[in-house]
Amino acid sequence: MFLSTWGLLVLSLGVVAENGLNGWLRYAPLSDELRQHASSLPSVIVALNETETSPVYMAGKELQAGLKGVLGHTLGLTHDFSASTNSTSVILVGTLAASNAAVKHNVSSLSADGFWLNVNGSQVTILGQNERGALYGAFEYLSRIAQGDFADVDVMSSPSAPIRWVNEWDNLDGTIERGYGGPSIFFGNGAVVQDLTRAAQYARLLASIGINGIVVNNVNANATLLNPDNMDGLARIADAMRPYGVQVGISLNFASPQTLGGLATFDSLEPSVISWWTDKTAQLYRRIPDFAGYLVKANSEGQPGPLTYNRTLADGANLFARAVLPHGGIVMFRAFVYNNHLDPADWKADRANAAVDFFRHLDGSFLENVIVQIKYGPIDFQVREPPSPLFAHLPHTKTAIELQISQEYLGQQSHLVYIAPLWKTILDFDLRLDSKPSLVHSLLSGYAGVVNVGTDPRWLGSHMAMANLYAFGQLAWDPARDSQLLLQAWTRLTFSLDPTVLNTITSIAMASWPAYENYTGNLGLQTLTDILYTHYGPNPASQDNNGWGQWTRADSTSIGMDRTVSNGTGFAGQYPPEVAAQFEASSTTPDDLLLWFHHVPYTHKLHGTGKTVIQHIYDAHYAGAQTAQDFVSTWSALRDSNASGTNIDAERFDDILFQLTYQAGHALVWRDAIAGFYHNLSKIPDEHGRVGHHPHRIEAETMSLTGYVPISVSPASTASNSTAIIVADGAIRGEAVAVLDGVESGVYDIVIGYFDVAGGRAHYGAFINDEPLLEWIGDLEDRLGHAFSTKLDGHSATRVTVKGVEVKKGDVLKVIGIADGGERAPLDYVAVLPLGVVD
Ligand SMILES: *[C@@H]1O[C@H](CO)[C@@H](O)[C@H](O)[C@H]1NC(C)=O
Ligand SMILES: *[C@@H]1O[C@H](CO)[C@@H](O)[C@H](O)[C@H]1NC(C)=O
Ligand SMILES: *[C@@H]1O[C@H](CO)[C@@H](O)[C@H](O)[C@H]1NC(C)=O
Ligand SMILES: *[C@@H]1O[C@H](CO)[C@@H](O)[C@H](O)[C@H]1NC(C)=O
Ligand SMILES: *[C@@H]1O[C@H](CO)[C@@H](O)[C@H](O)[C@H]1NC(C)=O
Ligand SMILES: *[C@@H]1O[C@H](CO)[C@@H](O)[C@H](O)[C@H]1NC(C)=O
Ligand SMILES: *[C@@H]1O[C@H](CO)[C@@H](O)[C@H](O)[C@H]1NC(C)=O
Ligand SMILES: *[C@@H]1O[C@H](CO)[C@@H](O)[C@H](O)[C@H]1NC(C)=O
Ligand SMILES: *[C@@H]1O[C@H](CO)[C@@H](O)[C@H](O)[C@H]1NC(C)=O
Ligand SMILES: *[C@@H]1O[C@H](CO)[C@@H](O)[C@H](O)[C@H]1NC(C)=O
Ligand SMILES: *[C@@H]1O[C@H](CO)[C@@H](O)[C@H](O)[C@H]1NC(C)=O
Repeated sequence: MFLSTWGLLVLSLGVVAENGLNGWLRYAPLSDELRQHASSLPSVIVALNETETSPVYMAGKELQAGLKGVLGHTLGLTHDFSASTNSTSVILVGTLAASNAAVKHNVSSLSADGFWLNVNGSQVTILGQNERGALYGAFEYLSRIAQGDFADVDVMSSPSAPIRWVNEWDNLDGTIERGYGGPSIFFGNGAVVQDLTRAAQYARLLASIGINGIVVNNVNANATLLNPDNMDGLARIADAMRPYGVQVGISLNFASPQTLGGLATFDSLEPSVISWWTDKTAQLYRRIPDFAGYLVKANSEGQPGPLTYNRTLADGANLFARAVLPHGGIVMFRAFVYNNHLDPADWKADRANAAVDFFRHLDGSFLENVIVQIKYGPIDFQVREPPSPLFAHLPHTKTAIELQISQEYLGQQSHLVYIAPLWKTILDFDLRLDSKPSLVHSLLSGYAGVVNVGTDPRWLGSHMAMANLYAFGQLAWDPARDSQLLLQAWTRLTFSLDPTVLNTITSIAMASWPAYENYTGNLGLQTLTDILYTHYGPNPASQDNNGWGQWTRADSTSIGMDRTVSNGTGFAGQYPPEVAAQFEASSTTPDDLLLWFHHVPYTHKLHGTGKTVIQHIYDAHYAGAQTAQDFVSTWSALRDSNASGTNIDAERFDDILFQLTYQAGHALVWRDAIAGFYHNLSKIPDEHGRVGHHPHRIEAETMSLTGYVPISVSPASTASNSTAIIVADGAIRGEAVAVLDGVESGVYDIVIGYFDVAGGRAHYGAFINDEPLLEWIGDLEDRLGHAFSTKLDGHSATRVTVKGVEVKKGDVLKVIGIADGGERAPLDYVAVLPLGVVD
């Protein structure tokens, strides 16, 4: 009997709109030309397990659905082994153990979760070292077919590390810390949601990139997750994800025995505390026999931990390790421990030193099932950091690297930033332990990716951001993979095989991290965002003069953190000797980390270009912001080249065009804010005369105003001329008028700079000689996922553009704003730009 019932998920394939829900697992139909190769495909799928919760069973379903989508015909599906021996036209998928009787092969080299994929004409064999491995092999085969690759292959593939987890920062009330894709798919109102369809769909995406574990709640954990109802809810999540081989774990709140259990203490060595955790853990395993384990953020940013009772961090980690050990679980213990009340007046104080200072002496004192989870850099997911030196200090401890897919400091999914090239700078960094090759990835036992997907059908709130999730899983499996090739595979699977689409996305995405670094923080200065508020827009002053230790030490003559051993914080000396020596001297420090390690005058010359530091900062901001403008024109050209109708659907095209257009405007906000800030601080002019000069702008505060009043903006450099206008208190409507006397008649792009804050949806209209030019609403909070600000600042500053407007000298340009709630229709400037000028 061939089983061919369709699961719900499967049914939806090809039927739903292109809203992003299927991610890279769309299985879009191949062209007729490519489908011709399908004649040599197998006629039946044999999946060697008929238990519906088995990953092998899911592999069979996935193969059937995927091939149906891609090739248009439905293969039979059976679980009867004899069918595979009767036919030479079969896809056999199962575990090595289940197939051993019949299939002879040399697969001794597979490690846990690994698979063997052999395609030989119409005979396809997919065997996993375990059930998960079989599913991974099926996804690998489908990925090849969906990309039009029908070649015979013989692949043996094993993961680089056994731990390949995602971390969600979901709160029980349904909000997500640093989440930009809507509310939680797991929690709401203090409990696990009833409908876990999205959890299963997420597990499917995760399995397709080799992810085998998920921590479902925020590292800033709420102890009530451990009440009986919520533990039952966790069991339902685990049930939903188990068929995809994704094991569920949770983040713990260290103080739970006290806050939830009512004990007088949460001291890690106290017997009552130990038995409380032992008992809770047993209750969890009773509900979830394959529970993955715990993630712990202790003594970090105000969280409780073992240090509260003068116990070591290892005591704290081992408390949980002992509890899960008999059940086969593990403990991921975060190394993100630091003092957030550092004294900025202390030249030698350095948050970057903290991880090594706290953990170095604990090497060897963690139990076997503890993995120390280390953020890739010493600070916090910045646009550029050197690798954490802690990777070099724990030879007797298992470590995992923590990467952030959620773009907390990288544009919060409202900016396109393909992060894999950044991750590669860390993974491929050679720490030279004992003066021998020691690439960071070769030292790892695991990968943890902070993902923060939400109920938005695009998962992360942006179609393009999904490339980061895809690349994360692929690199965790094999960190030697090339970030551009991963992007291209993702593009084919997500959009189409059209070479124009491929080239367009490659050129934009590969330039996106360098561009973002250019228009945010350069030379190792970190992302110069507002670290005290939403981590989104520019606010370079917020880095310094507070206890958080993300300092730049910029003053009127010099800039950068002195992390040398000779005169600074000593951080450079935390690396093994060869690397330490390289970072100790500015002459051997790479330019892109210069200001991470050295405090230098603005006039210090870079080795690469010979430019001064300040001129590089100016140039990089102008170049990066220009690159972001080019994204829009490059992307727009896709639609114009769609003659064959094969390239990309209008739905996702338009969505991405909207985001790229927004990004181009916000990149200019960044450019002007950062370049303006350092210009104002250093008083060193830009050699090219750009910074602080906006000859085509008319400041809103200088227009004829009715109902509008000027307001100072803070940070000052986030508004043109530091000043905006808002509709006055008590008024609803404002009008700002400028006579275009200084403009020669011709064709121009007209730009209006304004602010879009949370708390209202103001209406705007722009007119030339009372003829309507553009109407818009300040409703970006409904259309973009980043954290919105209630203030006029670098987060809310944005702009609209009308291209190709006929203007005559003396025309009257008028902007009308209608306030709504807290949004007082704020305006910054208008610009009448000769074609080709960006400002
Ligand atoms: C089939 O799958 C179930 C559930 O995953 C598993 O317990 C069982 O061992 C599997 N059987 C074989 C033959 O692999
Ligand atoms: C395979 O062949 C054997 C022996 O001829 C037969 O008993 C079995 O039913 C066949 N299986 C299938 C699925 O056709
Ligand atoms: C089996 O594979 C291993 C590793 O790939 C290889 O070293 C060994 O020679 C192979 N054995 C046979 C019999 O092919
Ligand atoms: C396919 O099978 C033939 C005959 O057994 C063998 O010679 C060839 O190496 C196989 N190809 C692959 C890719 O396994
Ligand atoms: C923990 O969750 C409960 C239930 O949702 C909620 O009442 C409480 O405020 C939360 N505690 C914290 C510290 O967020
Ligand atoms: C921890 O140690 C410090 C210094 O030795 C001491 O002052 C403090 O009272 C101790 N705290 C606890 C909770 O034991
Ligand atoms: C050495 O450190 C002092 C602060 O202690 C600082 O003012 C000075 O600029 C540093 N010198 C160099 C050469 O970096
Ligand atoms: C970044 O800025 C540098 C310096 O101006 C420039 O050479 C480079 O092309 C820029 N790259 C991008 C992608 O904007
Ligand atoms: C490309 O053409 C196809 C077929 O006409 C159409 O469905 C699709 O929406 C077009 N894409 C864009 C971006 O307009
Ligand atoms: C800048 O704003 C002030 C008022 O805040 C105004 O007097 C001045 O004219 C403006 N400068 C420019 C260049 O628009
Ligand atoms: C320039 O610096 C002065 C002094 O710190 C400050 O008051 C002003 O707001 C700054 N202006 C800009 C545009 O950053």
